[in-house]
Amino acid sequence: MVTPAQRINQVKEYYFSLKLKEIARMNAEGKEVINLGIGNPDQPPAPEVLEILNTTSLRSDVHGYQSYIGIPTLRQSFSKWYKRFYGVALDPEREILPLMGSKEGIMHISMAFLNPGDEVLVPNPGYPTYASVSQIVGAKIISYDLQEDKGWHPNLKALEEKDLSNVKLMWVNYPNMPTGAPANSKLFEDLIAFGKRHHIIICNDNPYSFILNDNPQSILSVPGAKDIAIELNSLSKSHNMAGWRVGMAASNPQFIEYILRIKSNMDSGMFRPLQEAAAKALSLSDDWYQQVNRVYKNRKKLVLEILKSLQCTWQENQSGMFVWAKIPAHYSSAKELSDKILYDAHVFITPGFIFGSGGERYIRISLCTPEDKLKESLNRIKNHITK
Ligand SMILES: Cc1ncc(COP(=O)(O)O)c(C=O)c1O
Repeated sequence: MVTPAQRINQVKEYYFSLKLKEIARMNAEGKEVINLGIGNPDQPPAPEVLEILNTTSLRSDVHGYQSYIGIPTLRQSFSKWYKRFYGVALDPEREILPLMGSKEGIMHISMAFLNPGDEVLVPNPGYPTYASVSQIVGAKIISYDLQEDKGWHPNLKALEEKDLSNVKLMWVNYPNMPTGAPANSKLFEDLIAFGKRHHIIICNDNPYSFILNDNPQSILSVPGAKDIAIELNSLSKSHNMAGWRVGMAASNPQFIEYILRIKSNMDSGMFRPLQEAAAKALSLSDDWYQQVNRVYKNRKKLVLEILKSLQCTWQENQSGMFVWAKIPAHYSSAKELSDKILYDAHVFITPGFIFGSGGERYIRISLCTPEDKLKESLNRIKNHITK
């Protein structure tokens, strides 16, 4: 009998992968489920970005393998983008590595820095990939709580009461997903000092700083941060290019070289027209970001109405393309509420437990659905759930 590797037993199929199959079955039965679950931007990339993709792909000399480190134009564009929006200087030659989205960066970084048995600090609630990738590489997960009354920021003092001697890496993600909590300079400064004190690499996963957020911030803006921090960024959400798979890692040249050593053994570069178009996206004017955000802002008003009708409560200062809200006491769990809404109103809302036990009494609604569908969801929920 052929048995899979042990690591297969350590990870389950991704929750959304399973749920989307169930939604597809319900749709096949004619139920027309509205999916308010996934953060998959439905607005298109900027027309000038698509233009570059189209014209470049017609050339005959762009279809071969590309460099493992991305074309210089793309690395330079990332560098200018970091300077313009985050005030961070990055050497395009040595401190930036283009990636196929930030998700793969989580795997590359884990493979580059974690030995089996090394400990890794993972937020609860948090993006599930930090934990699943840690398990795949055989690291030991030390989960740390994020709490609403602490602004969903880690309690570093409480962490320092533990033995941190085996901890190698800490995942943080601000603006935070799923909670929408913003960072602030003090948090980033404290994290860098904490990382340096304990020789823990601080990885900030930063794909949401351009969505409903007036003040994009990078952990690398803290003086000396590059010595101990890595930042992941992505065009998936900021430029409506999730399916293109373009992201980046930034850090000191040595860390970038370690990550490249893994990555260059796993893929063979990104399609050149896509890189040229991504470089264009990074130079779009402020107007473009504002226009995308106007759409999210209007949708958010409707999402808040949905949450109000469900008697949920939420924090006002959320960034990113979701709203995270606490469910009322009369539901036993967010899973119960999410399933009820799915089966009775045919609307899918993400239950917070998939982000860890800290999310058990929360739900997350995505802003990636047009207003007419949100209005329809509101009506269905009013008719079937809260009547
Ligand atoms: C916190 C967080 N990090 C990373 C990703 C992955 O994004 P990318 O498309 O850049 O791989 C997501 C996507 O949902 C996310 O929510």
